[in-house]
Amino acid sequence: MRAVQVTTLEGPEHVAVAEVEAPTPGPGQVVIEVSHAGVTFPELLQTRGMYQVKHPLPFTLGSEAAGIVSAVGEGSRFSVGDRVATITGKGTFAEFLLANDEQVLLLPDSLSLEAAAGIPMNVLTADFTLRVRANLQPGRTLLVHGAAGGLGSALVQLGLAMGAEVVAVVSTEEKAQVVRDLGAQHVVFADGFKDAVLEIFPDGVDFVADPVGGDRFTDSIRSLRRYGQVLVLGFTAGEIPTVKVNRLLLKNVAVSGVAWGEATRDDRNLIHSQWEAITDHLASGALDPHIHGHFPLERAAEAIAVLDERAVLGKVLLDVNPSLT
Ligand SMILES: NC(=O)c1ccc[n+]([C@@H]2O[C@H](COP(=O)([O-])OP(=O)(O)OC[C@H]3O[C@@H](n4cnc5c(N)ncnc54)[C@H](OP(=O)(O)O)[C@@H]3O)[C@@H](O)[C@H]2O)c1
Repeated sequence: MRAVQVTTLEGPEHVAVAEVEAPTPGPGQVVIEVSHAGVTFPELLQTRGMYQVKHPLPFTLGSEAAGIVSAVGEGSRFSVGDRVATITGKGTFAEFLLANDEQVLLLPDSLSLEAAAGIPMNVLTADFTLRVRANLQPGRTLLVHGAAGGLGSALVQLGLAMGAEVVAVVSTEEKAQVVRDLGAQHVVFADGFKDAVLEIFPDGVDFVADPVGGDRFTDSIRSLRRYGQVLVLGFTAGEIPTVKVNRLLLKNVAVSGVAWGEATRDDRNLIHSQWEAITDHLASGALDPHIHGHFPLERAAEAIAVLDERAVLGKVLLDVNPSLT
């Protein structure tokens, strides 16, 4: 079968399609024929050996996908023909992928394979962030950095679905339009965002969700209201910020690490309980990834480059076998 392989840690332009052996399922596993795979920031980092989870070379890239179960191992709770999405952390940029049962989510008929491919990592991380770690309640205020990106747009959509008032932080007018279309009540630009936020909410916001990091971090803390919380998700800006902890005392605020992948390793049932928690939002269309664009498997390098160039508007998808439905 064809698969996008990483053979050297020199960046996304060096990934290439190769012929590799198709997988066979072991006990409690399934093989999925992939229709679409979602492109996520960890893939970009993995092509440079900069992600915390490191796979021995060569390996097939890709964290998430949607498709149809084509073979099941002994004892699997899935059946051939099931429409599913999966988050495996590797191997999804391929015609067929191997997944453990606990990594597989059965799709409702209403959800297309295309939409489902963009959901697992971003939407489940957003749910873990807002429902599990922040206990976000209706009427609270939520600022989202990188709001037009994959994770950012999922945080905006889920925050709105949970009844929050959302401030989306973006770097360009084009991205501002995307988050307005998602329904964000307030949109501010990354440059000078703190002053803009404090003009809207003079006491600050309840939560800041931050997949970006870098030099905006101190201003994120300054944008919090009393008892507020910054949720640290990632560092797309490159720099890992440091925090002077006296700032936390000034207004009784907290900085919390949010590592969804780590939590799934601790709790094997987590993604299934999360899937249940978001079912209504999926059915209502409140969680519907904004698709940036589609790339064929052969152009995976270009697809990843969109994220590298800070150009992504929502979710980039790889079309592997889009004729599957
Ligand atoms: N903690 C967790 O559990 C977890 C789970 C999933 C993903 N993540 C992390 O979340 C982060 C975002 O992932 P994603 O898939 O949403 O990425 P993405 O779609 O590429 O979005 C990243 C956003 O970061 C902003 N950004 C600022 N400086 C940037 C730079 N130098 N290069 C690229 N982007 C820059 C951009 O927004 P502006 O241009 O508007 O600033 C962009 O929209 C990654 O670090 C990823 O590893 C964490």
